[in-house]
Amino acid sequence: MNLKIAVLAGDGIGPEISRQGVNVMKAVCEKFNHTVIFKEAICGADAIDKVGDPFPEETYNICKNADAVLFSAVGDPKFDNDPTAKVRPEQGLLAMRKKLGLFANIRPVQTFKCLLHKSPLRAEIVDGADFICIRELTGGMYFGEKYQDDEKAFDTNMYTRPEIERILKVAFEYAMKRRKHLTVVDKANVLASSRLWRKIAQEMAPAYPEVATDYMYVDNAAMRMIQEPRFFDVMVTENTFGDILTDEGSCISGSMGLLPSASTGSGTPVFEPIHGSWPQAKGKNIANPIAQILSVAMLFEHFDLMEEGKLIREAVDASLDANIRTPEIQIENGQKYGTTEVGQWIVDYILSH
Ligand code: IPM
Ligand code: MN
Repeated sequence: MNLKIAVLAGDGIGPEISRQGVNVMKAVCEKFNHTVIFKEAICGADAIDKVGDPFPEETYNICKNADAVLFSAVGDPKFDNDPTAKVRPEQGLLAMRKKLGLFANIRPVQTFKCLLHKSPLRAEIVDGADFICIRELTGGMYFGEKYQDDEKAFDTNMYTRPEIERILKVAFEYAMKRRKHLTVVDKANVLASSRLWRKIAQEMAPAYPEVATDYMYVDNAAMRMIQEPRFFDVMVTENTFGDILTDEGSCISGSMGLLPSASTGSGTPVFEPIHGSWPQAKGKNIANPIAQILSVAMLFEHFDLMEEGKLIREAVDASLDANIRTPEIQIENGQKYGTTEVGQWIVDYILSH
């Protein structure tokens, strides 16, 4: 296969983990005889500094013309502490999602046996947890009508039937490929938008008779996720609820540095870690590259290159089992490996298996 990949490294630890993702991708392509061309593009605070726009037109064009985007992270504290800033790095991320039509954000939550003790939850609760959160990504309060003056402000949580139908379709299809259990998460006891979600889900469910569909209020889902994470197989929810629940979900596995995500829709799909730009760690070679590397696995799997994805997952598991780990997940008194060393170990494993 020929693959054209747009590489958006962004800010903070972005460039460091991006390099490891690219190296892993090169290694897999070499191994399986795929041709891959990388094209780098700027985004986030880096792009604001350079051209005043966190998602410049040129970056958009590079993404549009690629088969996939390998994205790392955006964000810089100099914007967080300045409420008057006119442009923010995060706007680049939102612009990318909207312009590429990426309405479905797939965030898997899984655990790694050897890291169960790293979870803030008891090992027996998280052991075996394995679910996917499907978050609607281009609607809801993030993009609805907004207003702000000094006395009043609002964000509108609007969803249309086609927006809800297309994301629920993705969710039902994921459930069919997995353990056939779908949980629709909403706040239908209070919100009109949620009632429409639930109504449409109930209309669609009979078309997927093998899928056990249940409905859960978001507050209850937040609780259930930490009480009994194994309950879930596929959950689907709107943009804001999904944003919050997936941060909660990321804690289950023990480190934010482990979990990848995919955003898909009508345009070029984007693959990225779920964590942010961790500015304090920039240039220190301590960031865990695994979330980025597993996003490369998701990228291959998106193109039905399952063996390629599997080899990456195997290499990641092997690195963890061999204690080739970045500081935040290293065992007590274990040697701490850097971003580049973990990446290189995984590359070597791929090339020699
Ligand atoms: C995420 C992030 C973004 C979001 C921010 C950076 C705009 O938190 O991808 O979850 O809220 O969607
Ligand atoms: Mn978030």
